[in-house]
Order: sequence, then structure tokens, then C-alpha cells
Amino acid sequence: MDLLIQDKVHDESRQGEALVLEPVIGKNNGRKLYIESYGCAMNFSDSEIVASILLEQGFETTSDFNNADVVFINTCSIRENAEVRVRNRLKEFAGAKFKNPGMVVGVLGCMAERLKAKFLEEEKLVDVVVGPDAYRDLPNLIEQVDGGQRAVNVLLSREETYADISPVRLNSNGINAFVSIMRGCDNMCSFCVVPFTRGRERSRDAYSIVAECTDLFNRGYREVTLLGQNVDSYKWSGQLADGSEQLTEEGEVKTTVVNFANLLEMVALVSLELRVRFSTSHPKDITDEVLYTIAKYDNICNYIHLPVQSGNSRVLDIMNRTYDREWYMNRIDAIRRIIPECAISTDVITGFCTETEEEHNDTVSMMDYVKYDFAYMFKYSERPGTLAAKRYTDDIPEEVKQQRLQQIVAKQQEYSFYRMQARIGKVEKVLIEGFSKKSNNDYCGRSDKNAMVIFPVNENYKPGEYVNVLVERTTSATLIGKIVE
Ligand code: SAH
Ligand code: SF4
Ligand code: F3S
Repeated sequence: MDLLIQDKVHDESRQGEALVLEPVIGKNNGRKLYIESYGCAMNFSDSEIVASILLEQGFETTSDFNNADVVFINTCSIRENAEVRVRNRLKEFAGAKFKNPGMVVGVLGCMAERLKAKFLEEEKLVDVVVGPDAYRDLPNLIEQVDGGQRAVNVLLSREETYADISPVRLNSNGINAFVSIMRGCDNMCSFCVVPFTRGRERSRDAYSIVAECTDLFNRGYREVTLLGQNVDSYKWSGQLADGSEQLTEEGEVKTTVVNFANLLEMVALVSLELRVRFSTSHPKDITDEVLYTIAKYDNICNYIHLPVQSGNSRVLDIMNRTYDREWYMNRIDAIRRIIPECAISTDVITGFCTETEEEHNDTVSMMDYVKYDFAYMFKYSERPGTLAAKRYTDDIPEEVKQQRLQQIVAKQQEYSFYRMQARIGKVEKVLIEGFSKKSNNDYCGRSDKNAMVIFPVNENYKPGEYVNVLVERTTSATLIGKIVE
């Protein structure tokens, strides 16, 4: 277990959620699609794009891979165990394919991109391998498989953002949705496989993002999470919203430039009743302008996920994070100054190459400095092809990595508890998401600061509505209270 708290956005080790959608209305091709996703929210969001593309082709979805005609697994490569899980799952699909030889098995996502055609050699049951930028080609690739071939498309693109594809919302509660605002990553953190699996960073058309959020709002959604590997470097320039071709003095068509702060504001203005979340922020790029925008709009949630990775400047340097301990602390201070009540979470890696005990202690002391609300903590896992794999030896013994991990997990439990306790007696604005997992007598929803809140059902309020909840007590990960007027 290398995670403390489960969270839909940041939990890259999330596994195997089968995604199901409403039956198709319109021309049905009589074939059933099963799709399962692993990894980060980007992957889950991509599965919605894949489903949308196949829905157009007349597919229907199923939640049981045993009776599917096409089985897709959208994969993650971030740590070795993420890949091991996928391999094991493929073994289970092999059984189903043995019974139903016509079944098409496809590997999508980051592992497909990392291993490319090698996948077909290594996993005999796989018919099709498709990287994250090639999903538009899926109908064509499935056709090739139907024709008796095995097919691969792992081309990465500098432009693809799927901006015009309206994702079908899978397994949706009709209240929260992910909206992808950019793809790829241009940072070369030395431990990280993402730049290799997702390609170059590109930002999606700002107006298409606003249009998608507006449509979601009109359909009753009340929370959007804007997704990117590094949202703070979002930058899009394009034609003005009204499509007018005004000319500059030089006779060029006028364009508008939108940065992340501008985009946040544009989405916040869709409706003040629409909550806006975002992930992930990068310490090197998060600007005061972004922080002031968060502070300005009540509907932009006071919650920032700001992965530190390590609290030691030398380790940060060889991780190629391009900031040091002081810079990171300065960003934390800026958040506390501009958004005093802001919740902050982080990601930490223990046992990166050459990390000494003292350097590890700097991570521990960083946790003392920030007192994070949540943290996602991992042991370093060397990934083939990354800068770290090429340059440094993965020299910290497994037991040491593990022991350092346990130390920070214990530390984080203390601070999560501390942050939760601090909410007792406070009134939180909660967006009701539905009944609590444990009981239909209770509702659950999240506070502005991203804490899960449980409270007794009150007939006057429905899921999708906001309520004020007075927090009375807490468990280790949940606030418990009652609705107050
Ligand atoms: N774009 C985000 C993170 C994406 S990956 C960012 O820059 O913060 C999510 C988390 O997985 C990372 O923050 C890191 O903590 C962890 N991670 C990435 N590569 C890893 C590796 N090789 N071993 C262990 N953890 C890793
Ligand atoms: Fe990986 Fe770094 Fe990019 Fe995050 S910012 S996806 S850790 S390379
Ligand atoms: Fe995993 Fe790819 Fe996301 S490697 S964390 S699914 S970008």
C-alpha cells in the first residue's frame, strides 16, 4: 500500500474501474464494448473520449467483459506495479477470449505507448495497441482486426486535443465531471515516464473548454475538474470568441491569448453555481495571478494539489523538478497569504536515487512546514527510458524505501487528522453528491477544501444542491455533521 487517502483525481494507482454508459440511442451495430481504466484522471477522461468515438460507430457498452465483443484496457505506466496489475488483468481477459475467440482485446493509454508493437509480441491475446493520441483511429484499427490482422497506432501528436469530441460521461453521478484542458508534458522530471507516454504539451482551445463546461452546467452538472499534467503552463492563443476576424495594424487576424488564470476565470464565470477544481499544479509555474483568481471567485475551490516530490534541494535538482526547497516554501507562503484557508495536498517520492537519510529528513520537515491536508506517497520505481534510469543507479534498498515511506505516511496521518480536527465547529459549504456509501440515511459530498463530508439526509435538499454543514466530528478521512440553514 503506498497511498494514504483515495481521491478520484490524484490516485494514479486507481485500478480497474469498469466504465458503463447508457445504451446507445440510434444505429446499433450489435457489438458490445467493455472499457476499463487505470491510472490518473487523464486516463479516465480519455476513456470517455474513446467511448464517445465508438458510440458514434453504433457500439453499446457492457459492464461484463465476458459478453463483450471489444474489450479495452486503458493503462498506466507510472510505476512498475501499475504495469504488473495490467498484465494480470490481461490474463483474466485471456480466459474470456478463449471462450469467445471473436473478441477483440485492445490495450490503450500509457503502457501501449511505452511498449508499442512489443506488446503484441509479449501478450499473444492482444489484437490492438493504441497510444493516447491515436484514439480517432480506433474504428479503423478495429476494422483491421476484424479483417484478421493485429493493429498498432502509437503516433504521438503535437496538436491532438480531442477538442471537438464531446466525451460521454461514464459511470457519472451527473454532478462532477472531468474536463481535459491540455495534454502531454514538457517537463522532464527525471523519474517520470509521462513525457514519453503522452508526448509534447499542448493546450486545448479555451472556448471549447468553456463550451463543454457550459453544456455540463446546463445538463445539471455542478462541478468540473480541469485536468492537465501541469495546468499552470496552460496557454492557448486563437481567434476571438465571437469568430470576428478583426485585423491588427499589421493586417494580421487578431487573436487572444489565454493563460491558466484567464481560463479559470472564464470557467468560473460559466455560472457561480458551478464549482471549479483543477489538477495538477506545478510549483515552478503556479503564479500569484492564479492564486488571486482563486481568491476572487467563491466557486473556484480553495484546494491546490502541489506535488513537492522531495523536500531536499539536491534531490529536487537531480529529479529535474527545476525548483528548490526555498522556492517551494515561497509558493506555500504565497498560497497562505493570498488564500488563507486554502487546503493543500502533495505527492512525495521516497528513496529516489542517492537520497540520504538526512535528505529524506528534509522531506519530513517539509511536511511539518506545510502540514498538508492530504498526501499521495510513493516509493521510487525506476521506469525504463527515463532520465533517472539512464543517469542514476536505483541504489536505495527496498527496505529503506519502504521504511522512509512508512515514516512519511505516519507523519501525514497526523497532519490529515490535525487538518480535519480544525474543521470541527466550522460550517462547510458542501455540494451533495449522493447517498453515503454506508447508508441511505446519509448524504455525502465534498467541501470546498475537498474533504468528504457525511450528514443526515434532509428531504428539502437533493444531490447537485449546495448545503451548509456544521461539522461535529471526524473520522480519519471524513467530516461528519448536520445541515444548518
Ligand atoms: N504531473 C504531475 C504528476 C503526475 S504523476 C506532477 O508533476 O506533479 C503522479 C505522481 O506519481 C507524481 O507526482 C509522483 O509523485 C509519482 N511518480 C511519478 N513517477 C514515479 C516513479 N517513477 N516512481 C514513483 N512515483 C512516481
Ligand atoms: Fe511527470 Fe514532471 Fe510532467 Fe508531472 S511535471 S507529468 S512528474 S514530467
Ligand atoms: Fe499513468 Fe499515464 Fe496518467 S502513466 S499517471 S495514466 S499520464
